[in-house]
Amino acid sequence: MDYSSAVREIKKKYKGLGWPSLFIKIRFFTAPYRKLEADVPRDGFIIDLGCGYGIFSNLLALLSSQREILGLELDMSKIKYADRGLGNVHFQAADITRAQIPSADCILLIHVLHHLNSYSEQEVLIRACYDKLKEGGKLIICEIDRYPWWKFILTQMADHLLYPGDRIYYRFPAELLSFLKTLQFNIQYQKSHQGTPFSHVTYVCEKRTSK
Ligand SMILES: C[S@@+](CC[C@H](N)C(=O)[O-])C[C@H]1O[C@@H](n2cnc3c(N)ncnc32)[C@H](O)[C@@H]1O
Repeated sequence: MDYSSAVREIKKKYKGLGWPSLFIKIRFFTAPYRKLEADVPRDGFIIDLGCGYGIFSNLLALLSSQREILGLELDMSKIKYADRGLGNVHFQAADITRAQIPSADCILLIHVLHHLNSYSEQEVLIRACYDKLKEGGKLIICEIDRYPWWKFILTQMADHLLYPGDRIYYRFPAELLSFLKTLQFNIQYQKSHQGTPFSHVTYVCEKRTSK
């Protein structure tokens, strides 16, 4: 199945659910899922931490039956909509800062780090992901940049609208990259905001092999 057909299929699977159905359409417009999906291995065990409504987990599952996906999410009002009946994806309610993360070929943190409760919580989680990745496995992080400035303003507006009252812990590239470099990763950093209204950046971090 090609990417556009998979997106149509996913939208159908969330049809008739009210706000989640609308949110899914907005998310496909605002998130760089096409670029991110291309970085995710076609096979193996993939964990989507903070998977929300499970949109990206389901998309990954639909685009390759060789992927086995686990989505973890804290918010029950989101995860209850995540299971759309695909056989190669499973979901669990969990606090990813406390859960035991199983060993994986790929771990995803898509717009999740800045919703944790502190910068140190972000670092502890990234280290836990590093530990749980198999050698050669990938940690894929999608976060936010200050630029383009107008996209950063739109990003902040959306975060404050969707998470009213929450403090948001944006971690910008210079700082996040310097932390990631303390771990044994080969890092590819790319801006991924083109074609979206928000200032996304993506970090594809491959765990080095010990040899
Ligand atoms: C902006 S949403 C992104 C959802 C999804 N990754 C996506 O790309 O559509 C951030 C998600 O992280 C979840 N989250 C925040 N802190 C969490 C935690 N400690 N444990 C699990 N999920 C968490 C939020 O509930 C929210 O659904």
